Amino acid sequence: MRSKLLIILFLGMILILYTFDSVHNSSTRFTSSEDKTAAKNVVNHTDQDQGLVRPIVLGFSQLGSESAWRNANTISIREAAEEAGIELHFEDADQSQSKQFEAIRSFIKQKVDVIAIAPVIESGWEPILKEIKQAGIPLIILDRLVNVSDSSLYVTYIGSDFYEEGRKAGKYVIDKLSSKKEIVGIVELGGTEGSTPSIARGKGFRDVIKEHENLKILKSQAADFTFAQGKQVMKSFLNKMGNEINVLYSHNDDMALGAIEAIEEFGLRPGKDIIIVSVDGTNKAFEKMAEGKINSVVECNPLLGPNLMQAVNELMQGRSLPKRIVTPESVFTETMALEEVGKRKY
Ligand code: AHR
Repeated sequence: MRSKLLIILFLGMILILYTFDSVHNSSTRFTSSEDKTAAKNVVNHTDQDQGLVRPIVLGFSQLGSESAWRNANTISIREAAEEAGIELHFEDADQSQSKQFEAIRSFIKQKVDVIAIAPVIESGWEPILKEIKQAGIPLIILDRLVNVSDSSLYVTYIGSDFYEEGRKAGKYVIDKLSSKKEIVGIVELGGTEGSTPSIARGKGFRDVIKEHENLKILKSQAADFTFAQGKQVMKSFLNKMGNEINVLYSHNDDMALGAIEAIEEFGLRPGKDIIIVSVDGTNKAFEKMAEGKINSVVECNPLLGPNLMQAVNELMQGRSLPKRIVTPESVFTETMALEEVGKRKY
């Protein structure tokens, strides 16, 4: 009887030791040398209830697919998530803020680890950002900014300095045309009304040209960052004041490409009769610059995927992030175009 009891006790201890070992190893799964690479790419994220290792889940609300820049941005995010072993839940809002709200609410329901949003416009975000905060999910703002009174509603904002981009475009126009005695008539194709790049690129441009009395903005109109609207709005500018237009400042390449078609159909030469300054730096814009149809492109970098995944990883490791992460960018002119064309990554 006593020896039976000892055997049962012994087997029980073995069972306890085995269970402890497997639970312990599940949170340090990547320990052998072959698994080191996997350990680098797949972030160890311990599920508090289960003690399991699973990838970080990121819910990303992309604002749309309105431009070549946006498509490059989406590809960069998808590729970087895969590379980092982060599970990406991706929603395209088709330029609609209410669709972004829907996507965010579904991310909250899914209990994702981190939410990131590229907001279509700046206003109207405070209530939904509060919902995210109440759910205890950290939020990263990407590309465009939100206008909220409480900046603790998001962790960090990663993206370009759009104001500086507008200033760079203005400086190009000053260098090229401010010495002219006569009035230089400028038309502006704005992006989506109320969006950060449209607001800031417009302001930066105005702030630098305002010192030069001969540089005059004749007309400015939003064209939603799309080729089709860029063409249509430029056509209406030309019909109203064709001969007074010396410069087109376009807030992105897609609208500039649409405008080039409108200018040619009107019988003028883009890049010669009308100087064109655009923003983004897509391959197609570089091709037009190499043909002499665009004069200068201010770069705006869409390849934000790696920065976003790094921020997500650091956040999940409990590190604090700077409130603002700015992507470095350049300016290109016709003389550089031939060398650069085809080398662009987007
Ligand atoms: O927010 C970035 C801007 O959005 C890019 O300049 C434009 O091409 C895009 O649609």
